[in-house]
Amino acid sequence: MPRDPASAAPPDALRLRGIRKVFGGVTALDAVDFGVGAGEVHCLAGENGSGKSTLIKIVTGVYQPDPGAGIEIFGQTHTQITPTLARKAGIAVIWQDLALFPEMTVAENIAFETLLGNRPRWVSYARLRDTARAALARLDIDLDLEARLGDLPIAQRQIVAIARALVSDARLIFMDEPTASLTQSETDALLAVVRTLSDRGVAVVFVSHRLAEVLEIAARVTVLRDGRLVGVYPTEGMTQSRLSELMTGTSFAQAVTARDAAGPEVLRIENLSRAGEYDDISFTLHAGEVLGLTGLIGAGRTELCHSLFGMTRPDRGRILLNGEGLQLRSNRDAVAQGIAYVSEDRLALGLIQPQSIADNAVLSVLKRISGAGGLLSAQKKEATVSHWLRELAVKIGLPEDPVSTLSGGNQQRVVLAKWLATEPKVLLLDCPTVGVDVGARAGIFRIVRQLADRGLAILLVSDEVPEVFLNADRVLHMAGGRIIHQWDPRQTRLQDMEAAVYA
Ligand SMILES: Nc1ncnc2c1ncn2[C@@H]1O[C@H](COP(=O)(O)OP(=O)(O)OP(=O)(O)O)[C@@H](O)[C@H]1O
Ligand SMILES: [Mg+2]
Repeated sequence: MPRDPASAAPPDALRLRGIRKVFGGVTALDAVDFGVGAGEVHCLAGENGSGKSTLIKIVTGVYQPDPGAGIEIFGQTHTQITPTLARKAGIAVIWQDLALFPEMTVAENIAFETLLGNRPRWVSYARLRDTARAALARLDIDLDLEARLGDLPIAQRQIVAIARALVSDARLIFMDEPTASLTQSETDALLAVVRTLSDRGVAVVFVSHRLAEVLEIAARVTVLRDGRLVGVYPTEGMTQSRLSELMTGTSFAQAVTARDAAGPEVLRIENLSRAGEYDDISFTLHAGEVLGLTGLIGAGRTELCHSLFGMTRPDRGRILLNGEGLQLRSNRDAVAQGIAYVSEDRLALGLIQPQSIADNAVLSVLKRISGAGGLLSAQKKEATVSHWLRELAVKIGLPEDPVSTLSGGNQQRVVLAKWLATEPKVLLLDCPTVGVDVGARAGIFRIVRQLADRGLAILLVSDEVPEVFLNADRVLHMAGGRIIHQWDPRQTRLQDMEAAVYA
């Protein structure tokens, strides 16, 4: 469709009107309008299950919207979007699994498309490298082109995925929670790449539950709530608390909840070390206490959790539970001792994706955890699990829907429910809010407090310093495998803690 020559401005990258998508009983999107300017950085914000990923899948042709949608891409009207059309129109997505080839080199992954349609003997590797190098140069990034992709950290693989999108001439790139598993410095690097893309005229739509990041990177933010459009707002002048209010319809108090632990000592760690992972770790954890453990990704926090949960064995040192030395040979031992572990990686948590959300899926996982004929009777387990699913306000369509149809944050809650149903004494929470929206975060921390009030001893691991500052009684700072500092949130300032951790 020819453009009106009188209009000087370039067409918007994307204009969608009246997008509706119903899955069985769930209305994922209803009458949503969504627009992105050329070269704009635009954020899509909303609680878990509000429809963000569904909208991205519609724009990229993975799902078809219900009839009646208006679709305009770079000034061209379309009646529907197929994956091929999306790609030809210059739309790309950086999926969370990145869809790259771990066995291939950086150059091959980036310039992959140039290989397609060529018979192998005609492929010029020099040209392939040139293409890859040029794409990285557009991002102002220097990577070893010959490195095997599988050997790179996730942050660099993301860059490779973005460079590949540029090779296929993407002008509108969607990133669905790209920073969820990145460290602070990796996040900063990614945000710099997003800015570079925008400077070069490539529009970026960015999804993140970290609101500070949203406000830092985007010019505008579109807010969804329960599949409906709340509005489109400039980020200029917007605050995090206002944005969470728009997303949830309520406001959240942000106050330090630390207090003195009154209960008896439950867990005592003495000089625990494991070569290359963590070194000479000592601390105590009391009943009713929330102990925060923060530090950058790679500080050894998760490795420590793995040993406390019996998944790896320390080389030296002791773990005492209620004064008795523990020899954990497996996670089964740990569960039998009343230790529960909510891992940071929900995809590896043992949710069986194709199975139904219904209690049987949750229960089958539970059975594996607690062993046949475990401590809880099947009926009691079922009752406890559904109790926690309700308590955690897990948004479920039909109980017989597969777990994979739940939004990411809701899957995280299913995992938490499952663990709480094992009635643990010690709860290890390793970054429990990765991918969880602001409202649900508040809900999870409220529950963490209630659990502590009931006498649970809780280790709360997080790389988001404000989370431990607000929700823990004491905070340990881990760096390079060692605990280097301890804070009382009542006697320190958030800025000081952040400065120390992110230094
Ligand atoms: N294939 C599907 N079948 C059934 N329901 C689905 C399907 N895909 C998504 N849904 C439902 O649509 C709603 C929106 O899901 P979506 O994944 O878009 O949320 P989201 O905003 O990306 O959430 P999160 O922040 O947790 O990733 C949810 O209630 C989800 O359960
Ligand atoms: Mg999502």
